[in-house]
Amino acid sequence: MYHFATNTLFLLLVCHADGLLFRFNLCYHTPGKTTQFPAICVIYPYSAQPRRAERRLMKAIICTRYGPPDVLQLKEVAKPTVGDDQVLINVQATSVNAGDRHLMRGDPFLVRLMFGLSKPKQPILGTDVAGRIEAVGKNITQFRPGDEVFGDLSDSGFGAFAQYVCTSEKALTQKPASMTFEEVAAVPSASVTALQGLRDKGGIQSGQQVLITGASGGVGTFAVQIAKSFGAEVTAVCSTSKIDMVRSIGADHVIDYKREDVTQGQQRYDLILDAAAYRSIRDYQRILQPKGTYVLIGGSMKNLFQAMLFGPLLSKTSGQKIGNMLVQPNTQDLRFMRDLLESGKVKPVIDKRYPLREVPQAMRYFESRQAQGKIVITVD
Ligand SMILES: NC(=O)c1ccc[n+]([C@@H]2O[C@H](COP(=O)([O-])OP(=O)(O)OC[C@H]3O[C@@H](n4cnc5c(N)ncnc54)[C@H](OP(=O)(O)O)[C@@H]3O)[C@@H](O)[C@H]2O)c1
Repeated sequence: MYHFATNTLFLLLVCHADGLLFRFNLCYHTPGKTTQFPAICVIYPYSAQPRRAERRLMKAIICTRYGPPDVLQLKEVAKPTVGDDQVLINVQATSVNAGDRHLMRGDPFLVRLMFGLSKPKQPILGTDVAGRIEAVGKNITQFRPGDEVFGDLSDSGFGAFAQYVCTSEKALTQKPASMTFEEVAAVPSASVTALQGLRDKGGIQSGQQVLITGASGGVGTFAVQIAKSFGAEVTAVCSTSKIDMVRSIGADHVIDYKREDVTQGQQRYDLILDAAAYRSIRDYQRILQPKGTYVLIGGSMKNLFQAMLFGPLLSKTSGQKIGNMLVQPNTQDLRFMRDLLESGKVKPVIDKRYPLREVPQAMRYFESRQAQGKIVITVD
């Protein structure tokens, strides 16, 4: 293999398999034979060890303490390792939800009692996830590496504001092939909240008059379309600049609350889904049918407590059903939503997209109340 005319002493450069480790061997060549001595020199231009460690790191948005969006910082942290009952997702997209904002700010205070007094115990926030399964634990039966999935991580520790997250398979369902990761990332929490509010708590029926407040937001844009898919006549309430969008997703009537007070109108509703509870329940009772249902989804804390404390009493005395609800994430409802998406009856409304490093800006935009529909985070 070596062809030297005379006896020669030379150094042979041997590259290590990963191309980072260089080793010199001392060789002595005589015609017909080359003797190779053990390595005399090893050079690490940079160590192979950190490279392996790098592969175990990932980028994530860390919530270091409760507060405004500035408390969210992009950091490199350990990539999670999949447990026996978990799947590891390579996150492609996620989206911003009111729940992420409550966790970031630790507001209302109840959040701190549940998730950590001075800072979130689980520092990586992010509820909605869309991505590709990279690895599965030994007890996983539903998914395989390579499967494209989406889901709601709020019952399994959050963590979607990162390149990778480990979660229970119960949080996930297969992504519709016809939709992008960004589209499905907008769906889980907001759409299932709207579905459960209208169908389970509200008992929506075809032909009913349904009023939806906060109709231009994440929950509201799904609620308008889901209510239409159940055959209801939908009146949507939103601010002036969002009227065209709300009409475009199928609302039969749109009321600009800056110009008109819906609670002073003549129309009576069978079902009111209140996703922006800034009027008192008494006001809404006026425009509710005698046997109608009012479901409070979100809005001011005052109204939320009003519905929780007085809802049962008001229901008994008025004959109307008055209550609030808390979303229960589950894959059955997520699959119900997937069918609606695949049938084209529901389409996520996405306002803006931000890369992972700009989650703080995305949160600021969410808090500005300018968004129409959902804000999506893309993850490389
Ligand atoms: N119960 C649950 O399990 C559950 C689950 C998810 C969310 N939520 C709650 O549901 C609410 C909506 O969530 P979301 O994700 O849809 O939020 P979002 O995307 O911010 O939408 C909220 C909408 O409410 C409207 N709004 C805000 N302040 C208002 C005011 N003072 N008066 C009238 N309308 C106002 C805004 O539209 P305009 O600009 O058109 O006013 C905004 O688009 C939040 O309070 C959230 O905490 C509850």
